[in-house]
Formats: sequence, structure tokens, C-alpha cells
Amino acid sequence: MQLHNFNSGPAILPAQVLEQAAAAIHNFNSTGLSILEIGHRTSWFVEVVEEAKATVKKLMDIGDEYEVLFLQGGATMQFMQVPMNLLDENGMAAICDNGVWGNKAVKEAKIFGPVTVVADTSDKKHTYLNKQLVLPEGTSYLHITTNNTVEGTQWHQYPQVNVPLIGDMSSDIFCRPTNYKQFDLIYAGAQKNMGAAGVTLVVIKKSLLGKVKRQIPAILDYQKHIDAGSLLNTPPVFSIYVSLLTLRWIEKEGGLIEMEKRNKAKAELLYNTIDSLPAFYCPIAKEDRSIMNAVFFLTDPSKEESFLALCKNKGMIGVKGYRTVGGVRVSMYNALPISSVQAFCELMENFS
Ligand SMILES: Cc1ncc(COP(=O)(O)O)c(C=O)c1O
Repeated sequence: MQLHNFNSGPAILPAQVLEQAAAAIHNFNSTGLSILEIGHRTSWFVEVVEEAKATVKKLMDIGDEYEVLFLQGGATMQFMQVPMNLLDENGMAAICDNGVWGNKAVKEAKIFGPVTVVADTSDKKHTYLNKQLVLPEGTSYLHITTNNTVEGTQWHQYPQVNVPLIGDMSSDIFCRPTNYKQFDLIYAGAQKNMGAAGVTLVVIKKSLLGKVKRQIPAILDYQKHIDAGSLLNTPPVFSIYVSLLTLRWIEKEGGLIEMEKRNKAKAELLYNTIDSLPAFYCPIAKEDRSIMNAVFFLTDPSKEESFLALCKNKGMIGVKGYRTVGGVRVSMYNALPISSVQAFCELMENFS
């Protein structure tokens, strides 16, 4: 049976990337050694890191005022590493709480300084984005989750603010061309659109740093990672290599313009199908719907279990909604072919 991988993350990767990664486990770049066996300070691996950094910058169209880091600890670590490096008692973090991940960012930031929640959308179960942001006086930075993986909303135009903008782009990095320069710091766990679990991309404007007084442990200090060229300690060598392969794949396929074309086609097909079938409904405001994660429900909730069982039987993997939301979630990251969405839509149409 053909499988269709709609996992929310770790998620589907391009077949080519998997083949190249598997080959490198046996023999990396004809060195006779596995990628798992080479030293992280060898010229072989330094070249991997440098190419990955350069490709990130090229895809984002950003210059040398930004630094690219490959860190560990997941996007979850960034919920605390960002405020630890950028927020102190004299500042104020403004954070958009539009769901599970924004909420975690709020909780962690409070450990380091004052926090104001802006644009809380819990009144409507996070089914929309509140764009009327009122930032308090003295705001140090605004943090947004550019794509709410769990709730199925996505910022299609980022807020225009006159304070540094921080973006958790874990679930929509490189899904489309966008103005990355609008951000002062971007972070993303790699395991959705950029590779395998185990590495987090952090892109940071260097001028943002050095403003808080607290002592920061070396491993959590962005400046120390920058000074060490992202090789402060042993990095996740294999995960970084898989990210490089995925970045190369994005470029080869036509870059972010092509990714957006494909992603929009998949999302349009799926949302049109949901909206046309009385058995399903999507509660997310149309203008805020995510092109990465579609969250929707069965009109008759008693049929949800049988629908999910049917999906499983037909090889549709990972479509059960997040545990606190329920319903159905279909993740359509860059590597998902439109044929999988077509197969899923056919299944919906035949379900009664
Ligand atoms: C938007 C967003 N932020 C943060 C996280 C947490 O990432 P990690 O598990 O890599 O810490 C996720 C995970 O799915 C996510 O989707």
C-alpha cells in the first residue's frame, strides 16, 4: 500500500534527501568514512556548515548583518534562550499568544523579565489571528509564531512594528518567499521543512546582542556561538548534514518561489474540498488559514473515529488532530507531493 505522510513533525523529507543521507552514512563524500564518524572540526564538516549557512542566507536574501547558527535543544529551547539573551528586568517582551507554542514562549520569557501578551486569541479557540497589536511603552521585542502548527493559522503578512521582531518559524520556514529582513531573530526546529530532528536553525541580527546585563552560560549565549562559527561544542553533525541536503533540494527544485507555488496548490485543493463537503468544516478564518497545517473537523463528531480509522487503513499517516484540539490535521510541508493531497481529498469525498 502506498503511504501518504501527513505527519506534523518530524515530517516527510524528499526521497532524494533520504537517499543521499543514507549513502553518507556509509561513505561520506567518498572519504571512506561515515558522516557519523567524522570530526566536527575537520575541513569536511566545516565545509558542510559553511555551505548550509550560505544557502540559508541566499534563500532568505539576507546579508552579513545576520549570523546563522545551528543549535540544539529544539525550538523549545529558544523559548528560553531568546529572553535569556534579550530580555531583562528593565525591558518588556511582547508575545503573541496564538496557541500552544506562543503560550509556551510566554511562560518561559516570564522567567527572565516582564512579559505582555498581545493579541491573545483564546476567545475564539485560536481560530484566527488578531492583527490589532498594541505594544506597551518600552517594548524590547515582539515575538510571533509565524505558523501555528497545532491550531492551523499562519501570518500571511507580518506585523509592521518599530521594535525588533522575533519569529518562531518552526513549521513554515522556507515554505514561500517572504521578507526575512523584517525579522531580527528567526528560529526553527529543522524537523518539518528543513531536515531531521536534532538541530534548530537560529538566524540573528548581530546588532541585537549585548544589551542585557545578566551572565549567560556559554552554551546558551548566542554571541559565544557566533564567535565560534556555530562550532562552540560538538554540534549535531548528521542533522546539520540532512539540513544541508534539504536546503540544496529546495534550491534545485526552484527555490522558495517554487515551494510557494506547490504549497499553495496543495492548500487550495484541500481547503476547497473541505469547504465544499457538508461532512467537514474548517473553523479557521479564511484569510488566516495555514498553507502548512490544515486543521478541520467532522460536522458530526461521532463520525470522527471512523474517519480516522479509514485514513489509517488507506495509508494516510499522521492526520489525527493535536491532543488538545482534536479533529483532523493535515500537514503539507514542502516535501509532500500534491498526489498525497489528491488521494486524501478523494477519500474525503467518498466518506459518508
Ligand atoms: C511552531 C512550533 N514551535 C515550537 C515547537 C517545538 O519544537 P521542538 O519540539 O523542536 O522543541 C514546535 C513543534 O512542533 C512548533 O511547531
